Amino acid sequence: MIDKIKELISEAESFKAQSKDEVEAFRIKYLGKKGLLNDFFAEFKNVANDQKKEFGQTINKLKKTAEDKVNALKAELESTEEVKGIYGDLSRPGGEPVQIGARHPISIVKNQIIDIFSRIGFNVSEGPEIEDDWHNFTALNLPEYHPARDMQDTFFIQTDPDILLRTHTSSVQVRYMENNTPPIRTISPGRVYRNEAISARSHCFFHQLEGLYIDKDVSFADLKQTLQHFTSEMFGKSEIRLRPSYFPFTEPSAEIDVYWGGLETETDYKITKGTGWLEIGGCGMVDPNVLENCKIDSTEYSGFAFGVGIDRIAMLLHQIGDIRLLSENDVRFLEQFKSAL
Ligand code: DAH
Repeated sequence: MIDKIKELISEAESFKAQSKDEVEAFRIKYLGKKGLLNDFFAEFKNVANDQKKEFGQTINKLKKTAEDKVNALKAELESTEEVKGIYGDLSRPGGEPVQIGARHPISIVKNQIIDIFSRIGFNVSEGPEIEDDWHNFTALNLPEYHPARDMQDTFFIQTDPDILLRTHTSSVQVRYMENNTPPIRTISPGRVYRNEAISARSHCFFHQLEGLYIDKDVSFADLKQTLQHFTSEMFGKSEIRLRPSYFPFTEPSAEIDVYWGGLETETDYKITKGTGWLEIGGCGMVDPNVLENCKIDSTEYSGFAFGVGIDRIAMLLHQIGDIRLLSENDVRFLEQFKSAL
């Protein structure tokens, strides 16, 4: 009989229930008035004296096991019901699939450029969009009478001291050189602002990516090679043209044109103004005055810098004919870039 009770103990231990009814049936079977335990207790008087002790202990163990089981199963079922009450039926199949967004074309192009330059050892740096006069103009060798300092071209937030929305990412060059020592290889993507009339080709805010390379014995040939590497990776085209130009912060300076050719589409035609050449930015050898302003010894170090327009590159690569589309955030426009992640 003791063996039979032990068997029942292990049966009770492994019992599982899905519903309250099943728990109740279990309780009645073991602990009910006409249940197994009461039968065993009634049997007690018939057990031989020398077995009474073990018999008593075993049925007490069965009783405790059954009681514990009932309590544990009840608590478990109550807590799952509570969850169902809050969240509904968790086993229900899902409804409409969640719409997945797309990356903005500016981010797509920015990430591609970052990828290209990271592979040749450039890190990414950033600076504030609200700048002071020193970082946006003075340290970059822009004289006080320079037209870029005019209210017509720049959004001033405050004058004297001048606080403004940065007009280019070249301000990050200054911040980076102030806080780091050569060798420097960094690119700085970001949004810039200019007080310009908004049209299909120009906007009062757009995106640039600045590049800066400072080390011993850096030459113009290094600059050209770096730009050529960039354009061939980015566009699959390495024919570039460096047109002599002027920037206060570089000497010599040049405009960077990429030969796009083709003129197959109206957008190519519009963006390259019918020439097949696309101007993507400016570049040059960092002016020694700028190095000195940033406490870098210009007799020991030299370097190059460049700035490219991200919007313009995105427009060409994705055949976007109007720059305003890039900031309107029309979902019908944005969702076209889902595959271009
Ligand atoms: N800051 C210039 C602009 O906004 C672009 C530029 C030109 C950046 C030459 C440079 C550079 O770093 O060397 O038009």
